[in-house]
Amino acid sequence: MEDNRKILISAEQIAGRIKETAAVIDEEYKDKKVLLVSVLKGAFIFLADFARALTIPCEIGFMAAQSYGDSTVSGGEVKITLDLSRDISDYDVILVEDIIDTGNTLYKLKEMLLARNPRSFRIITLLDKPSRRTSPIEADMTLFTIEDKFVIGYGLDYAEKYRNLPDIEYIET
Ligand code: IMP
Ligand code: MG
Repeated sequence: MEDNRKILISAEQIAGRIKETAAVIDEEYKDKKVLLVSVLKGAFIFLADFARALTIPCEIGFMAAQSYGDSTVSGGEVKITLDLSRDISDYDVILVEDIIDTGNTLYKLKEMLLARNPRSFRIITLLDKPSRRTSPIEADMTLFTIEDKFVIGYGLDYAEKYRNLPDIEYIET
């Protein structure tokens, strides 16, 4: 595993796209009441960098969902293991995701959050693997669209490891 790692997207490329995306959100949300909702654990580093790239005021909430075991293959089941602690009906919610793969996790989360009637709702994802989609869902903003490769680093794990890598790497199989 260790030997087969290759850099797919560098820390510099990530930082560049975050800056561009944050500038768009700064402009479009300057008069809004922003709640960034991050999906743990994979999105924690993206959220931290994205939130710091924004200059508008925003609040931050966390959710967690489980759809994967210690495997590189998606299971169909999605379980919400951590939920927001506040009412979101007054907020312009931006869901910050690490990766959309099958889309099953996000589909379920979006359905749950929309049922709580936020003022507005948008999804920003760091990575999108459109070729693997099984649920009908798209992000409103995607930083990088990638091929069907299993990626690690910058928050993303393989069996809970490699989340701390600064670049996004892939495992060559
Ligand atoms: P989905 O429900 O299949 O769209 O994917 C849900 C979650 O699986 C993502 O939020 C990630 O945490 C994880 N995941 C999907 N693809 C990858 C990958 O290539 N590397 C690491 N985690 C992944
Ligand atoms: Mg995730």
